[in-house]
Amino acid sequence: MAAVCFSLRLCSSSVVRPAAAFTVVRFAQTAAAPAPAAQPRIKKFQVYRWDPDRAGDKPRMQTYEVDLNTCGPMVLDALIKIKNEVDPTLTFRRSCREGICGSCAMNINGGNTLACLNKIDANTSKATKIYPLPHMYVVKDLVPDMSNFYAQYKSIEPYLKKKDESKAGQQQYLQSMEDRQKLDGLYECILCACCSTSCPSYWWNGDKYLGPAVLMQAYRWMIDSRDDFTEERLSKLQDPFSLYRCHTIMNCTKTCPKGLNPGKAIAQIKKMMATYQEKTTASA
Ligand SMILES: *[C@@H]1O[C@H](CO)[C@@H](O)[C@H](O)[C@H]1NC(C)=O
Ligand SMILES: *[C@@H]1O[C@H](CO)[C@@H](O)[C@H](O)[C@H]1NC(C)=O
Ligand code: SF4
Ligand code: SF4
Ligand code: FES
Repeated sequence: MAAVCFSLRLCSSSVVRPAAAFTVVRFAQTAAAPAPAAQPRIKKFQVYRWDPDRAGDKPRMQTYEVDLNTCGPMVLDALIKIKNEVDPTLTFRRSCREGICGSCAMNINGGNTLACLNKIDANTSKATKIYPLPHMYVVKDLVPDMSNFYAQYKSIEPYLKKKDESKAGQQQYLQSMEDRQKLDGLYECILCACCSTSCPSYWWNGDKYLGPAVLMQAYRWMIDSRDDFTEERLSKLQDPFSLYRCHTIMNCTKTCPKGLNPGKAIAQIKKMMATYQEKTTASA
């Protein structure tokens, strides 16, 4: 599942967009556009622009005007329209345009969210301000460098681990309905990083603190009844940074565009950790 998301996102970034995808997007756009009305509704979009690879280029805001009568309803529709019709150099990631791939995460009017799920504010006297996810290295314009985030995700070993691998490939690992339900609210995460990049602790210690998205997935594997490595997973988070930099500020939960609660998952890990540490000191 995770591997699929990864490859989708990497293959479909705007930076290396295949020509075929470009055509499909254009077609969908035209098909969905409402009939043009007599009175244009011009909306301003102020978009962060920066190409760090171009010598002397400095971060700046660029304003684009879009007629909402000929644009789809979401902020991503406006960005695609700008890229197709006004400025092909504008760079952003997107793939699914329905809140599943996680690639269009950005900061819109001050909040981290998915551009494809975020409705354009129809009030044309207010400009919509669009920045990349905050406190990330910028690859270009709205495209953040996700390398550290993905490395952190890899570090929690986000897959089923068994102590006895002798039956691997020969049987399914079954789970009761109750045990399966414990994963609800966790498995739906699309790893968009909106939560982690809204977390002040992650801003200042993103190299060592794993952040809410990755910690919620660590928790997802800890409580999976089929996984045998709960204690080892806990043990790896005992240092002062990986988990304990979370100070329960709850920006993460507030901002999650999928309505998930990573702040709560972190609190649950802290509870499990307390029990685990009591047990290990008692047996020492
Ligand atoms: C649109 O935004 C302007 C500027 O913020 C505000 O004064 C006005 O009341 C808003 N109009 C509506 C219909 O919300
Ligand atoms: C996170 O919370 C801080 C303080 O509570 C606030 O200043 C900041 O704007 C929030 N950031 C995001 C991206 O939500
Ligand atoms: S609850 Fe923890 S992870 Fe979420 S924003 Fe606050 S410090 Fe960050
Ligand atoms: S918890 Fe929500 S905001 Fe965080 S990565 Fe998952 S889907 Fe995105
Ligand atoms: S384009 Fe896939 S989540 Fe927005």
